[in-house]
Amino acid sequence: MAPSTDDFQSADVQRDHRQFIQDLGGWRRTHSCGVLGSGDNGEHVCLMGWVQYRRDHGGLIFVDLRDREGLTQVVFSPEIAPEAHANAHILRSEYVLAVRGRVRPRPEGMVNPNLPTGGIEVVVLEWKLLNTSKTPPFPVEDRTDAGENLRLAWRYLDLRRPRMQGNLFFRHRAAQSIRRYLDEAGFIEVETPMLTKSTPEGARDFLVPSRLNPGQFYALPQSPQLFKQLLMISGLDKYFQIVRCFRDEDLRADRQPEFTQIDIEMSFADEDMVMAMTEGLVSRLFKDVLNREVAMPFPRLAWDEAMSRYGVDKPDTRFGLELVDITDIVRHSAFKLFAGAKLVKAMRVPGGDAFTRKEIDDFTEFVKIYGAQGLAWIKVRNDEWQSPIAKFLSKSEREAMARALDLLPGDIVFFQAAEPEVVNAALGNLRARLGAHLHLVPAGGFNFLWVTDFPLLEYDDAEKRYVACHHPFTSPAPGHFDLVLADPPAARARAYDLVLNGNEVGGGSIRIHSEQAQRRMFDALGIGRDTAEGRFGFLLRALEYGAPPHGGIALGLDRLVMLLAGATSIRDVIAFPKTQKATCLLTEAPSGVAATQLRELDLRLRGGAKDA
Ligand code: AMO
Repeated sequence: MAPSTDDFQSADVQRDHRQFIQDLGGWRRTHSCGVLGSGDNGEHVCLMGWVQYRRDHGGLIFVDLRDREGLTQVVFSPEIAPEAHANAHILRSEYVLAVRGRVRPRPEGMVNPNLPTGGIEVVVLEWKLLNTSKTPPFPVEDRTDAGENLRLAWRYLDLRRPRMQGNLFFRHRAAQSIRRYLDEAGFIEVETPMLTKSTPEGARDFLVPSRLNPGQFYALPQSPQLFKQLLMISGLDKYFQIVRCFRDEDLRADRQPEFTQIDIEMSFADEDMVMAMTEGLVSRLFKDVLNREVAMPFPRLAWDEAMSRYGVDKPDTRFGLELVDITDIVRHSAFKLFAGAKLVKAMRVPGGDAFTRKEIDDFTEFVKIYGAQGLAWIKVRNDEWQSPIAKFLSKSEREAMARALDLLPGDIVFFQAAEPEVVNAALGNLRARLGAHLHLVPAGGFNFLWVTDFPLLEYDDAEKRYVACHHPFTSPAPGHFDLVLADPPAARARAYDLVLNGNEVGGGSIRIHSEQAQRRMFDALGIGRDTAEGRFGFLLRALEYGAPPHGGIALGLDRLVMLLAGATSIRDVIAFPKTQKATCLLTEAPSGVAATQLRELDLRLRGGAKDA
C-alpha cells in the first residue's frame, strides 16, 4: 500500500501558504541553479527551483535552491529588500520558488569549496512562490535511509535526488551515444509492433485481449526477433531499435518484466561481423559516457570451456578461483560420494584456511540453493589436511589432487560431487560469491568476454522435450544440423553472448535463413507441422521469398547502464521500475478492472470481477 498523503502533518501549514502561490507572470529563468560562479558577480539573475533547505540566521534567511543542475544559495536580507524578506519565513523544503536577485561573492568563511556555486550567493530582490509542498516522506537528498519500497511508492520525489537524476542523465547519454554510433554505421531505426504474436524467448508472454476479436489475444513482444528477421527479408540490411521488451518471468536485481534492448540485425553478416560491430558500439559508449578506452577485440571463450573452468556461462573473469575436474582422480576413492558421482570438481581458494566454521556453514547453505546436498572442504595446512573427509582420501589421491590444484598451505578447497548441472551451478555461483566475499574484484575494472559455441538445444524436464537454448531461429553450427536429431545435446549453435563482469549484457546469433532448415528445426524441437504453421507460418513463408543470410544481437540497455553507472540494481537506472513481485508501487498496477471492461473483452474471471 502506498502511504496516504494525509500521513504527513504539514498539510495545514501548506494550506495556509497556498494563498501566496503565483504564476510565472512573464518571469523567465536566466540561469540554472548549478552554473553561477565568481565570474557572474554583480549580475542580475532569475533562478527557479525547489527549496532544499531554509536556514534563518540573525535576520538573514538563507535558502538552498535546487534544480537538476545543482544548488545555489539565495539570501533574503531585511536591509537590502525588506519586502522580499517579509514572507520568506514561510518557505519549506520542496516549495517551488522563483527569485530575481543579484549575484555577489559569499562573505569570507562562508565559501563552500565542495559546491560548484559555493563561491557566490544571490541576494533576493523579489520572489514568487510557484507552489507549496507537503513534507516529503523522506528527505530529497542522496543520503537517505528510506527503504526501496517507500522510494518506489514516491518515485517522483525519489527521482528528484541528484543520484537518481544522475542515473537518468547517464542513461540518456548512453542511449544517444548508441544511436549516433549505429546511425553512422548505416543502421536504420525501425519501430516494430507492441501488439503482436508471441515469439518464444524462453519466458511467459504478457497477453492482451482483443475487444474486436473476442477470445483472441495479442502478446506483448518478448523481443522483436521475428520482425527484425522480416526486415532483413525486406532488404533493410541494417536495422536497430532501442525497444521495450516484455517477459513474464521471475524477477531479480538484474531482471524486470519490461526492459529495454538495443536490438540489432544485419544482412550478409557472420559472427565476426556482428561481434566487431558490437565491440565498436561498446567502445564508443565507454568513450562517450565514461571517457574510457576499452581493449578490443574482446576475448572469446567457448561455452564448454566456460562451464568447465567457471561452472557458469557468464563468468566474471576479473579474478581466478577456477574449477578443476578431479573426477578421474577420485573415481575409485574410498569416499563413496566421490567415487559414485558423475562429476567431481574442486575449487582452490588461497587464504581460505582462515574461514570460520560459521562462514563455511553459510557457504554450505548458499550452495543448497543450486541443488547441492552439502559442501565438502579441506583446509590445507603444512603437513596435514584438516577436513571431515580427509581420512577417506588415500595418499595417492591426495598427491594427485595437490598436483592438479597446485595446493599450498593456507588454502581451502571446496568440492562438489553430483550431476554436472548441480556441480557447476553450485561451485560456479560459490566462486562468484567468494570473489565478492574476499574482495578479489578490482574496483572500477570492466572485463568483457564473448561466450561462443553454445549448445543449440537443452532438455526441458517440464516439457519433456528439447527446447532451443537461445531461440528456435538460431542456426546450428556448420555440420551440426544432422546432430539436431541424432545427438541433440552435442549440437552447437552459431550463438554468442556478451558478458561483462559476470553479467550477461547481450545475446545473439546467426539465424536460419532457409525455409527448409527452419522447418527441420521445428521438427527437431517437437513442434508439429500444424503448430509451426499456426505460430510461425508467416516466417516460414517469408523465408521462401529470398531471405538473405543474416544475424544480429540484442544488448540489455538497463544492465549495461547499471554496470557503467556503478549501480547495483537495474531498478536504479529505470525511471519507473516494478518490484520483485512485478508491481508498480506508485500507480498500484496491476489492478482489477471494471466488470464492464471485462464484458467488452468477452472475459469472465473465475473468482468474479474485482473492483477497478
Ligand atoms: P536475449 O533473450 O538474450 O536475446 O536478450 C538480450 C539481452 O536482454 C537483456 N535481458 C533483460 N534485461 C532485463 N530484464 C530482463 N527480464 C531481461 N531479459 C533479457 C539481457 C540479454 O542479454 N532476440 C534475442 C536477441 C537476438 O538473438 O538477437 C534476445 O532477446 O542483457
